[in-house]
Amino acid sequence: MKGRFIAFEGCEGAGKSTQMRLLSEYLTARGVPHILTREPGGGHISESIRNIILDGKNREMTDECEALLYAAARVQHLSDTVKPALERGETVLCDRYIFSSFAYQGYGRGLSLGFLKAINAYAIENFMPDVTLFLDIPSSNAFDRKHGADPQDRMEQAGEAFHKRVYEGYRALLRDYSEQIAAIDCSGTKYETSAKIVQCLVSRGFIG
Ligand code: TYD
Repeated sequence: MKGRFIAFEGCEGAGKSTQMRLLSEYLTARGVPHILTREPGGGHISESIRNIILDGKNREMTDECEALLYAAARVQHLSDTVKPALERGETVLCDRYIFSSFAYQGYGRGLSLGFLKAINAYAIENFMPDVTLFLDIPSSNAFDRKHGADPQDRMEQAGEAFHKRVYEGYRALLRDYSEQIAAIDCSGTKYETSAKIVQCLVSRGFIG
């Protein structure tokens, strides 16, 4: 049996890791085999790529190089982590996927969506999640939650206007990919948000 592929998206500090952990507890309690993983990262090659991308010292990295590195980390992560788990029948909870590239490198950096779709077509070959959950909280609120940007993290240091464009980008993607992305309102407590996520997945028949 093939497992379900569920991606989480949102701005920095939207609470993705907390919500993934709460969903993991829910699945464990019901005996649903699953893994938690993240982009860029997962296996050791993608984690090495991640360190290059996020390293605050790599200030001269071009936007195109950044986009290609994310796509490279993605294809490796799919091959060594995501696809094997799905084949074992496990559900995969993945922190970020292709819509992060569209939101951050497209709307945030200003690269064309055509370029991003083309390089990611090589990386994923149409391999899309069963559903993408967008944790909807504006970037400014999200940074407040995590008490500001990390000075060592190149992406978090990109500035307020950048992160605002990323959030607006996600809103646009939500309209363009309404069949694939479900917005989760995060204005309540973490437990209320978690209940909304479970309800969304149950209503789509992805979990019991
Ligand atoms: P991470 O520390 O995992 O951030 P978060 O906890 O908010 O998910 O770092 C991932 C960073 O990489 C984050 O700033 C978003 C960015 N990113 C992109 O810009 N493009 C991408 O395709 C992906 C997967 C991530």
